[in-house]
Amino acid sequence: MISTKIAGIGHYVPDNVVTNEDLSVMMDTNDAWIKERTGIHERRWVPEGSDDTPSVMGTKAAKVAIKNAGIEASDVDFIIFATLSPDYYFPGPGVMVQDQLGIDNIGALDVRNQCSGFVYGLSVADQFIKSGTYKNILLIGSELHSGGLDKTTRGRGVSVIFGDGAGAVILQPTEEKGKGILTSHLHSEGKYAKELALLGPSTHHWVDKIMIENNPEDLSYYPYMNGNFVFKHAVTRFQEVIKEALEATNLGASDIDLLIPHQANLRISQYVQKKMGLGEGKVFNNIMKYGNTTAASIPIAMSEAWQEGKMKDGDLVCLAAFGSGFTWGSALIRW
Ligand code: UT7
Repeated sequence: MISTKIAGIGHYVPDNVVTNEDLSVMMDTNDAWIKERTGIHERRWVPEGSDDTPSVMGTKAAKVAIKNAGIEASDVDFIIFATLSPDYYFPGPGVMVQDQLGIDNIGALDVRNQCSGFVYGLSVADQFIKSGTYKNILLIGSELHSGGLDKTTRGRGVSVIFGDGAGAVILQPTEEKGKGILTSHLHSEGKYAKELALLGPSTHHWVDKIMIENNPEDLSYYPYMNGNFVFKHAVTRFQEVIKEALEATNLGASDIDLLIPHQANLRISQYVQKKMGLGEGKVFNNIMKYGNTTAASIPIAMSEAWQEGKMKDGDLVCLAAFGSGFTWGSALIRW
């Protein structure tokens, strides 16, 4: 039976480090508050004048993943690109990666599931691989938040959290018994769409209208997050969807060798770890260095965990995400 394995991983983050101290110069915030409430020490923000865009960063991460998989870019037969911060309103960045990598005219799919985008993309890729449709799928999660954040005190509840970066994987079929993606689970609850959203510019908030009305109260062009509300849902949904994956495979929490959660808030990861009884070293976190990079957070974390030798042959790796939509999902991978 064919299943899907991760054959190569890579990531790219911009060099520009923005510390909590740097933010305290821009707005009324401080290192102690940010560390205590989020666990974040610093994040990477694409500096002004840089050529990095979500697609460019995605391509850089993809080149590393392609190399680590031991294939050529020309071997990639499908692209999936997850982001909430595309280069343009349209077209999506998937086609830009196809062009930047100089790959033949293969299909390129854009996924719009925010923090859960990578897990959604992984699940879609898994179906294509298992059905025999594709042999080398390039899945990217990439975000450039920094350019669109409200970097004043007004926006501090959101802007201190988000960072820029990209991660990518190459997915291939494997016939090795019991290996690869064992299961994946996807969910949504659209009634909470506006609790974490960027509503304008869009077909609801056309740029013309925003500019003509010139209403200083209309902050629809900045991301909005009802932090407490999102937090409460996140801690429940993370546990629920991980348990769902474990039940589907007749496994238990004690079987997990490494949980790589979407890096939303260190307190969320620690809460889930405690509630699920996952021991020391069983949960990978790097939000301290990069903040919340939304669709990029899981592949960046996975790439670093792999570099650090934290995923060994036969290990059970669990991915889980929750975010805007609301959307959430999980996947279990036998490494
Ligand atoms: O990735 C998608 C999923 N996202 C998440 O899961 C994020 C979930 N939410 C969170 O992580 C947290 O809710 C936040 C980190 C966003 C906020 O932490 P919190 O503990 O919920 O703080 P809060 O919003 O309740 O704010 C507490 C206080 C407020 O002041 P008052 O009203 O108590 O005087 C805020 O104005 O902290 C103030 N505050 C800040 N102070 C310094 C808010 N942001 C900041 C800031 N620096 N950056």
